[in-house]
Amino acid sequence: MPEEPHILSIVGARPQFVKAAVVSKALAEAGIHEAILHTGQHYDASMSDVFFEELGIPNPTHHLGIGSGSHGQQTGRMLEQIEQVILDTKPDRVLVYGDTNSTIAGALAAAKLHVPVDHVEAGLRSFNRRMPEELNRVTTDHLSSTLFAPTTIAVKNLEDEGIRGDRVVLSGDVMYDATLAAAKIADRESTVLERLDLSAKQFVLVTIHRAENTDDPEVLKSIFHSLAEVAATMPVVLPLHPRTRKALEHIGLLQFATEHLRVCEPLGYLDMTKLEAAAAVVATDSGGVQKEAFFHGVPCVTLRTETEWVELVELGWNTICSPETGDVAKTILAASPPATNTDRPYGNGNASRLIAGHIAGRLQIHG
Ligand code: UD1
Ligand code: UDP
Repeated sequence: MPEEPHILSIVGARPQFVKAAVVSKALAEAGIHEAILHTGQHYDASMSDVFFEELGIPNPTHHLGIGSGSHGQQTGRMLEQIEQVILDTKPDRVLVYGDTNSTIAGALAAAKLHVPVDHVEAGLRSFNRRMPEELNRVTTDHLSSTLFAPTTIAVKNLEDEGIRGDRVVLSGDVMYDATLAAAKIADRESTVLERLDLSAKQFVLVTIHRAENTDDPEVLKSIFHSLAEVAATMPVVLPLHPRTRKALEHIGLLQFATEHLRVCEPLGYLDMTKLEAAAAVVATDSGGVQKEAFFHGVPCVTLRTETEWVELVELGWNTICSPETGDVAKTILAASPPATNTDRPYGNGNASRLIAGHIAGRLQIHG
């Protein structure tokens, strides 16, 4: 085991791999010894391996292989095994990302063992406690020692819950760093437009995976009928999350989807980046994809009743459209960018370096 101060980073789900790609690099540059723990929450090659390979994320030191399960089952299994890794390897700090079950399991295991927790993407709130992610966010934030908030609104949300002072660091958003790092490479190397037979600015890119959209057959049906309506005007491309594939199969709608939409497997980050940049409109229930649409200057329709990324709604880049309103097709086809594009609510693209510098300070590593 290493003698120097070190950090254990917990990842497990797709958006965490994208964030870890830039943060791990910055940690190494700051002289921090990092061990990565992959919980195995996401395990298909297209949901996990492709990101490690394409983005050069260091191989996980620990792979728990937890897999899928109910919330309690999945989180509980993670908690037990992460605790053991922390006891065995004695990290000085534990780093968690975002709001998944891997996040809360890592934060809880560490906090109970009195290991300080660093939370990247702290302070996000939808104020909807029916979302599993909201419960994960709130509890993780309250367990964390250092909270890296991507936006001023996130800082304010934390203040409103009594979390303030030195614990909170306005860092900017590491996903902006990730987009900046990938955009040129994706533009040069990705052949996804040719493979899917698409022309730039003449298609709508859609992703759907939230429990609130996939688990209610009526809502899922309504979304897919609306997307088919859009596809009568413009091709609709759908890299299909395994959760949504299973839900569509379950209600007998997968064939309808593949007949009307350009359905493909989940994509690697470079292909996804190329598609986002080339789309006329993005429609999604993903947190990350909402922001990436903005980074690429593409208008977004969020297929939910609310969003954590409220600044994009205020700036006119994002329109909230609840799938239950019946307005999905109309809203997607009417989406357009706002007149001005000068605001930068997610920082300057140096969030990962700022976070790594801060952690180095806490570990008393001086570069
Ligand atoms: C999880 C996160 C969500 C995040 C999303 C990113 C929680 C509670 N949810 O949702 O916040 O936005 O990841 O994509 O942590 N499955 C596979 N192969 C895989 C992974 C999943 O087939 O590699 C299927 C399984 O049937 C599984 C289902 O997808 O039961 C859901 O996976 P899970 O990780 O529980 O939640 P996500 O919907 O992916
Ligand atoms: N993503 C990807 N391929 C896909 C769909 C998404 O690379 O087929 C990337 C996307 O660009 C973003 C991240 O995965 O960086 C978002 O993950 P997801 O939508 O699964 O989770 P969320 O952000 O909603 O938690």
